[in-house]
Amino acid sequence: MGCSPSLFLMEDSTSRHGSSPDPLRGTGPTSNPSPDTTPSAPPDGSPAPSTDAYGDIRYRGLIAWSNRLEREWPFLTQQLASAPERSVVDLGCGPGEHVARFAYEGWRALGIDRSPAQIEDARTHHPTIAFEVGPMEELANLTDARFGAALCLGNALPSLDDAQMDQLLAALSNGLLPGGVFLVQWIDYAPILAGTKRALPVAVRPGTDGSEIVFIRVYAPDPDPRFVHFLPTTLELPADGETSLQLKSGHRIRHRGWTADEMTSRLRAHGFVSVDQYGGLDGAPHEPGRSQDVVLVAKKA
Ligand SMILES: C[S@@+](CC[C@H](N)C(=O)[O-])C[C@H]1O[C@@H](n2cnc3c(N)ncnc32)[C@H](O)[C@@H]1O
Repeated sequence: MGCSPSLFLMEDSTSRHGSSPDPLRGTGPTSNPSPDTTPSAPPDGSPAPSTDAYGDIRYRGLIAWSNRLEREWPFLTQQLASAPERSVVDLGCGPGEHVARFAYEGWRALGIDRSPAQIEDARTHHPTIAFEVGPMEELANLTDARFGAALCLGNALPSLDDAQMDQLLAALSNGLLPGGVFLVQWIDYAPILAGTKRALPVAVRPGTDGSEIVFIRVYAPDPDPRFVHFLPTTLELPADGETSLQLKSGHRIRHRGWTADEMTSRLRAHGFVSVDQYGGLDGAPHEPGRSQDVVLVAKKA
């Protein structure tokens, strides 16, 4: 399932059954947020702030990482081959598997994620690799280093509103070396914003003790046509062969549905000189209305 957006649980705001053992839950100090601690959306229309919105999503268990990396690796390395230096920062790195792969291949690699629980998971599994907790748009506060390449994979992008996007792209202008490559992948929101696509494919993954985890992800409209509400719902199918699906968590999250054209314009406005567009990390062309993902590969002057 790897790079398929069917496994990209994007953002989290509330959870149920917070204390039950659950393969989706992280082990970090913020891994059991309760619904009543969820911040509400501010009136200006920007996404709701969150302390650790991703704390209880265990991407390590949700994604078949070795399959995903094998599938994505040829395209990633091909696109990053022109980077002026073998150094990479992964923005919104989640459990850090891309960072680790680059580091093990000899790149200087840093993973950044605003979720302390995600970074704790990454550090636990890759203790020799560099990770920082913090918002990607505050890159300049998180590292003094400059990089040959930057990645933002797996639908981390729609977490950024317009001001945060400008902040990130301005930070990358400095954080990337001349000729540096910025590769970003997210779900194509055009049909979701238009209301013609209401859900991502259901995904079923192994849970613990023979159980299975089922993910249902539905989109609902927002009054602002640039935004959409994402409703990831987690169910568990117990191994007993008798019990029906059990609701484990349900979330309602506001996402900025960046389109390929909007992002291309913003990248150009921030000094990226070439922006190539693809429909996925397999390098397929982007076909509006057909591609599940948007991938942009932008080069800094
Ligand atoms: C769907 S996961 C993707 C993880 C990984 N990049 C992948 O491809 O599987 C999105 C990640 O982005 C992180 N994230 C969201 N907004 C962020 C921000 N503003 N700064 C840093 N990380 C952010 C979340 O904490 C989460 O771990």
